[in-house]
Amino acid sequence: MVLQNTQVCLASSPRGAATSDNFFLRQSPVPEIDDGEVLVRNIYLSCDPYMRGRMAAGTGYAAGFPLGGPIPARVVGQIMQSRHRNFSEGDFVWDFLRWENFTRVTDVRALRRIDPSLGPISHAISVLGMPGRTAEVGMIDIAGVKAGETVFVSAASGAVGSVAGQLAKAAGARVIGSAGTDEKVRHCLENLQYDAVFNYRKEPPGEALDRLCPEGVDIYFDNVGGETLDAVLARIQPFARIPVCGMISQYDGGDYSLRNAGNVVGKRAMIRGFIIYDHMQDFDLYPPRMVARMRRGEVRYFDDIVDGIENTPAAFIGMLRGDNIGKRLVRISDDPGSPTNHPENQRR
Ligand SMILES: NC(=O)c1ccc[n+]([C@@H]2O[C@H](COP(=O)([O-])OP(=O)(O)OC[C@H]3O[C@@H](n4cnc5c(N)ncnc54)[C@H](OP(=O)(O)O)[C@@H]3O)[C@@H](O)[C@H]2O)c1
Repeated sequence: MVLQNTQVCLASSPRGAATSDNFFLRQSPVPEIDDGEVLVRNIYLSCDPYMRGRMAAGTGYAAGFPLGGPIPARVVGQIMQSRHRNFSEGDFVWDFLRWENFTRVTDVRALRRIDPSLGPISHAISVLGMPGRTAEVGMIDIAGVKAGETVFVSAASGAVGSVAGQLAKAAGARVIGSAGTDEKVRHCLENLQYDAVFNYRKEPPGEALDRLCPEGVDIYFDNVGGETLDAVLARIQPFARIPVCGMISQYDGGDYSLRNAGNVVGKRAMIRGFIIYDHMQDFDLYPPRMVARMRRGEVRYFDDIVDGIENTPAAFIGMLRGDNIGKRLVRISDDPGSPTNHPENQRR
């Protein structure tokens, strides 16, 4: 059988919400490799909110994705052929590759080997990778969460939010979350150790915060911006900290004018945007640290897996709409230790 490489390519930049018309599938031959290179059979493709910004050239903090080509993304895969002395056939690896079945890696310097004894290999691009480290940077390094504080996390069940909330809980804080469906609310309460959670599509954030934390908020881990951020700004405690991780409510356009920003002065609050790429030094020390937390039961994690490379655009668009519970990944080939069979991934 002749293998084909299916690639998910960017047809056009989304205007407003991304649609299936922004993507197309292309078939190409499986690439050949030269000395010093490896060929990776990709297994898990990452779907991340920041990719929406990079699909529109020149609008974000990083360069736009080129039109017409396969979409760059974090990927977990297995070495299928190696002509590099540091990698062997069968090694599990992750890197910033592309939404495609097979990737020829010409520069292996950023290719990282995965230790399967640490858990499901998919975790390399979820809880043990960028999303998990993002939560740690925001909640611990920037906000400096302490026991007894009241912490609020938006997008509380998501890839980053689910870790941020549990890190705060492990530090001894009282943790409130918001999420967009009743199923997510239940998941946060039953599996992610939140003290209280509300569905922001049913109850305005300001009313919910008055009900659940009338004393106000010490730390707000902001994943969504807009109305939720504004509601928090009206309810911050003195010396509140607001690590601004993302503003997904604004990614499809629209502009929200904050009404309560003036409160930051009187409350001597700190608002700090951050980008994970500025915090990648010593990254190799992060996965064992998070594995230790997971083994102590402080953090549980859930990958939300869609099957089939042809379903990647829909999986990505759905994640932006809120279909996912946990980290949205697309599984495009066989994972010998499939995480859907892993006890840590059974959420219901
Ligand atoms: N600063 C950094 O370096 C960095 C790194 C990674 C991620 N981020 C940011 O962190 C945030 C979360 O990313 P993630 O990877 O963990 O994604 P995620 O939370 O797993 O998935 C995105 C979630 O956003 C929520 N959402 C979508 N539209 C919304 C809206 N209009 N209002 C409120 N919530 C909305 C949905 O959950 P609900 O159903 O609960 O609404 C959806 O499930 C994003 O803003 C992302 O850009 C930043």
